[in-house]
Amino acid sequence: MSEERYLTFALGKGRLANKTLELFEQIGITCEEMKDKSSRKLIFVNEELKLRFFLAKGPDVPTYVEYGAADIGVVGRDTILEENRNVYEVLDLGFGKCRMCVCGSHAAKELLQHHERIRVASKYPNIAKDYFYNKKHQTVDIIKLNGSVELGPLVELSDVIVDIVETGSTLRENGLEVLEEVCPLSARMIVNPVSMQMETERIKELVNKLRAEIGIV
Ligand code: PRP
Repeated sequence: MSEERYLTFALGKGRLANKTLELFEQIGITCEEMKDKSSRKLIFVNEELKLRFFLAKGPDVPTYVEYGAADIGVVGRDTILEENRNVYEVLDLGFGKCRMCVCGSHAAKELLQHHERIRVASKYPNIAKDYFYNKKHQTVDIIKLNGSVELGPLVELSDVIVDIVETGSTLRENGLEVLEEVCPLSARMIVNPVSMQMETERIKELVNKLRAEIGIV
């Protein structure tokens, strides 16, 4: 045990990290240090299991994993698709379920039928581009926003948006609706390709325990 190197985890800050830590606790991986919410520490260690954890902004998680600064990451599939980093996606953790959708006013549905050149606002320009160019073969102008994307059609910045829909209440409260579904989303575990080779047994064991816990056979 003692000659093992530390396995480092990058967790997307917020609800995903909390859910991930809950799940890890269920399979006996704890990190007491991380529970102290007043702490300003950035890296937390479980000496006994030789594990290190740090929290990062979601879009940075695949970056840490690609460069090997973290062996393993947990982040939403939206971020994995948008960042398109060289990492292995090894497990669907089953929580954080939502959908990436094209949304807009009811009247905007028509604009998706005839390959018209329309304006699409999104926090996810790469996902939006891939969907419209490669799947729908529709030329569009993509406008990158950083949040509150639903504003796009409301203030006539864009015709439609590509955004995450969870409960649908943001859309409903703003008179918008799902026009097309791009893909389903949930939290995923990603692994650095070199770590996967060097630490195959430890990573496989972890993935198998998680699979059993979340009920994947
Ligand atoms: C996300 C997403 C939608 C909303 C969807 O935004 O971009 O706006 O949640 O959830 P709902 O279907 O349950 O209403 P988030 O709250 O992360 O903030 P943002 O708008 O600033 O990106």
